[in-house]
Amino acid sequence: MAEAPGLGWPESCAAGTSVRTGEGAGVGWPVSRETDPEKAMMTAAMEKSAAMEKSAIRATGETIVSRPRMVSKKMVAPRESAVSGEPVVPAPAEEGVVDGMSTPSWRGRETAVAAGASRAMSDWPRPASCRVITIANQKGGVGKTTTAVNLAAGLALHGAKVLVVDLDPQGNASTALNVDHHAGVPSIYNVLVDDLPLSSIVRQAEELTGLYCAPATIDLAGAEIELVPMVARETRLARALAAYDRSDLDYIFVDCPPSLGLLTVNALVAAAEVLIPIQCEYYALEGLEQLLRSVDLVRDHLNADLALSTILLTMYDARTRLAAQVAEDVRAHFGQIVLGAVIPRSVRVSEAPSYGQSVLSYDPGSSGALAYVEAARELSMRNVRRSLVVE
Ligand SMILES: Nc1ncnc2c1ncn2[C@@H]1O[C@H](COP(=O)(O)OP(=O)(O)O)[C@@H](O)[C@H]1O
Ligand SMILES: [Mg+2]
Repeated sequence: MAEAPGLGWPESCAAGTSVRTGEGAGVGWPVSRETDPEKAMMTAAMEKSAAMEKSAIRATGETIVSRPRMVSKKMVAPRESAVSGEPVVPAPAEEGVVDGMSTPSWRGRETAVAAGASRAMSDWPRPASCRVITIANQKGGVGKTTTAVNLAAGLALHGAKVLVVDLDPQGNASTALNVDHHAGVPSIYNVLVDDLPLSSIVRQAEELTGLYCAPATIDLAGAEIELVPMVARETRLARALAAYDRSDLDYIFVDCPPSLGLLTVNALVAAAEVLIPIQCEYYALEGLEQLLRSVDLVRDHLNADLALSTILLTMYDARTRLAAQVAEDVRAHFGQIVLGAVIPRSVRVSEAPSYGQSVLSYDPGSSGALAYVEAARELSMRNVRRSLVVE
């Protein structure tokens, strides 16, 4: 195992030994401007034309420059495609610092959505049965919610039916999908604690047909404690999912809170796959051992079908050597389960939720959007056939 000293690798991580060499090329590794003069020229040209377009829009008054908060644009994912598209390669171009008032080019967005729409489900296989994927990492701010929302949007854009179960009391996934989650709204809390059927709380996300959300409200903050004395406290989400008619669903993503408490245990028991987002930063690997131990414990005692299926590298900053070192080390350690796509650190990704949108609709041509589309495509190609384990 190739270990980078000082990166905080857990000693007893179950490691994949295969090192995938040359993976980065063509699958979204950001390339710094300094090292790629051709890209730098292209980037400069793109920025110039975007700036010209923006000023033209301002001058003609065709549209307002800043969008009202929480306004989302419904997109309809086609079921068929006439075009067999090549894999989407995230653009390495860095995005400019945004002043919070500007928005991406509307024309660019429509073009990219149309391009994405034309690459529909003919080359993205639908799973034989619904895949339940828990997105877990007890560290906060590593991109769990961002990953849940944008992978779901990427898959839905290509014709899949996707449910995002928000299991974090902060309700960030519900916010990002623009689904009401004020205190008192029937939510995943009522499903876990009051045995409300999941079907009664699932809402269609405005952004895309085929994209659904089971919202979380702040009530869920009490659930960790309220669940303790309850019967079958670890399997309540699994039972709710088992009772839910998911015959028409292709994917369920469960967005975990930043802890390894009962909510995360419920998510691990309910899923067949675990996806761990790993931030390409110094402390990213600390705590990983604990998370992997929790996955092992759940597999041993509560859900024998559980597999660590996917690792996604997030917030990759091409300007730092550390990001490259973390990414390289994660690949060396975990091998095949690390997706080739890497999510770059991108202003657009962090702005999108405040508009109640995924980055795919907020700025589909941005490097973050393209990277998430590529990650979603890889996930669909892996197409692990698993089902829920609930008697
Ligand atoms: N690729 C990215 N580039 C820039 N900011 C990001 C990226 N991914 C996530 N963020 C931002 O980082 C913060 C934490 O991300 P989030 O997905 O909420 O993490 P978690 O769910 O693990 O706590 C959020 O403000 C989010 O908008
Ligand atoms: Mg979150």
